[in-house]
Amino acid sequence: MDIRQATIEDLLGMQNANLLNLPENYTFKYYLYHALTWPELSYVAVDPSGRIVGYILAKMEEEPSDEPSGHVTSISVLRPYRRLGLANKLMRQAQEAMVAHYNAAFITLHVRKSNRAAISLYRDTLGFEVHVMEKGYYADGEDAYGMRFLFPKKE
Ligand code: ACO
Repeated sequence: MDIRQATIEDLLGMQNANLLNLPENYTFKYYLYHALTWPELSYVAVDPSGRIVGYILAKMEEEPSDEPSGHVTSISVLRPYRRLGLANKLMRQAQEAMVAHYNAAFITLHVRKSNRAAISLYRDTLGFEVHVMEKGYYADGEDAYGMRFLFPKKE
């Protein structure tokens, strides 16, 4: 499976994968906004036929703050392609790009409290920590963990 930076042509495939995998869905305009504003931060996993089987849609925080930080808007991998390390690779590519292009000091994301697979990926594999619990964050009333990973400071 090839992992590469997402292009404008990939956005429909990313949106399709998102619709199959998650209840948190976004307008096409929002995908376009990510790709045009932070073209280095979103990646796709593609099978040999060119089909998008996983994606990460990522951005930089837009609210003014002391330190630049990245944010994962959405990540998912189609069911038959899970547990192959794709999400781990997609996350690492986006994290590297956040530091290289935007000097990010940390990265944040939200995840449903019940999402054991994703929490394990973030906490156990990637080293994120829960820094806040947001009650009723999701449209159906489920709570979210706000998770964060601090990038090691450069010497
Ligand atoms: N159960 C327990 N741990 C898991 C699971 C699982 N089902 N899936 C992944 N992990 C953990 C494991 O530690 C795994 O390492 P291991 O396989 O060596 O044990 C590690 O994460 C890395 O797994 P990957 O293979 O890289 O993860 P995968 O490509 O399968 O994708 C994902 C994980 C994205 C959570 C996938 O299950 C998915 O698409 N789920 C539905 C969509 C979703 O929940 N997305 C996240 C929403 S939050 C957000 O978007 C910010």
